[in-house]
Amino acid sequence: MFRKEVYVERRNRLKNMVKEGIILICGNVDVPMNYPSNTYKWRQDSNFLYFFGLDYPKMAGIIDIDNDQEFIFGDDVSIDDIIWMGPQPTTAELAAEVGVKNSLPWSGLREKTADAFNLGRKIHFLPQYRAENKLLLENLLEVKPAHQKKQASEELIKAIVALRSIKDQYEIAEIEKAMETAWLMHTTAMKMAKPGVYEREVAGVIEGIALSAGGMLSFPAIVTKRGETLHNHFHGNKLEKGDLLLVDAGAETSLHYATDHTRTSPVGGRFSPMQKDIYEIVLQAQVKAIEAIKPGVTNKSVHMLAAKTLAEGLKNLGLMKGDTDAAVQQGAHALFMPHGLGHMMGLDVHDMEDLGEDYVGYDDEVKRSDIFGTAFLRLGRKYQPGFVLTVEPGCYFIPALIEQWKSEKKFTEFINYDKLDAYMNFGGIRIEDDILVTENGHRVMGKPIPKTVEEVESLMDS
Ligand code: GLY
Ligand code: MN
Repeated sequence: MFRKEVYVERRNRLKNMVKEGIILICGNVDVPMNYPSNTYKWRQDSNFLYFFGLDYPKMAGIIDIDNDQEFIFGDDVSIDDIIWMGPQPTTAELAAEVGVKNSLPWSGLREKTADAFNLGRKIHFLPQYRAENKLLLENLLEVKPAHQKKQASEELIKAIVALRSIKDQYEIAEIEKAMETAWLMHTTAMKMAKPGVYEREVAGVIEGIALSAGGMLSFPAIVTKRGETLHNHFHGNKLEKGDLLLVDAGAETSLHYATDHTRTSPVGGRFSPMQKDIYEIVLQAQVKAIEAIKPGVTNKSVHMLAAKTLAEGLKNLGLMKGDTDAAVQQGAHALFMPHGLGHMMGLDVHDMEDLGEDYVGYDDEVKRSDIFGTAFLRLGRKYQPGFVLTVEPGCYFIPALIEQWKSEKKFTEFINYDKLDAYMNFGGIRIEDDILVTENGHRVMGKPIPKTVEEVESLMDS
């Protein structure tokens, strides 16, 4: 946990922004896998962690702005629990650790919210992503799960996004801590990318690195030679010489701050000329995008810059043609990169996405595009110092998408479909780093993970 003052200050700032009513922040509960006492790996809710810091199941927090009171709800363990779990701190002790004066048993949550509900007071709550908390909210506030997203407090969502978007010095230090683990995970995966090795062996080893560093993966790892499938979680393929191994994986620290990197390595240690051509284009798109990051610039414009760099490179290779600006404006490049440049990162690897992607990534000034590909950009708005985000362009040859566009004769003025026949089994390349926006520019976080063709090949030799 951070020092208690960090959490007190965060709640004070939240109170000043939301101004009136009561704020309810639900922690998570343990969720069964296959029978009640065999649960999924425990993960606390990130908003609860941000404001209350307590990494224990079945807790909730209330900030009563009007009466200037704060409460933590949770049950103290019984002797039966102690036999199975060992001694545990009391709820009152835990509340005190994060500067909350009042603690009540779990049943008190119902009483507190019922009082406020009966008095017609404004109860600010967040959209929930777990069934257990949707049912809890229904039980407490009589709002059906299907209506909760719509009735969630926009004031609270916007205030939390404003606070959590700007990482303070403690959060930045915490993310930096996880970077050591990220470096080890990715360099290990590169060294393991040898013919005869199964994807699952690499996946197992890098997850083990994350676990042994004291945290866990920040999302289920993507370890695949079929990198053209963007979120491919199948790990059953055997690597063969000539494959590309795409590893998109990150770690969390024990305080749950994330990393998220992607590297794509040639199985056997050498890129083929065809692989190298595409790799260099993606690398250039990534490096140019990173160079453009500074406060005041929009991520949407940097996404477009990366798209143009990609399209220009593909034009030089003969895969695209025509006017690059027009191709990118109309979305022709999305055949090769049907995703956005990146996303915010912090306590969640896609930070705050539970609150709604548009609240995190867009505002009155920058609106989401409705063009295929560009529409998938999660973060469009202007950078501010303290933002942490990913930059992750890619180039993919997705047979089903190519076939579909070709049969529809889509963008024939920009795409040389005949040239794509040779790439149908190519797979995909993505390169991803995590960037901190500073007062005057940016900093790539962490110890550099080999990224150029020469760096990757030389690491694989070692
Ligand atoms: N690293 C996976 C993603 O950004 O979606
Ligand atoms: Mn990412």
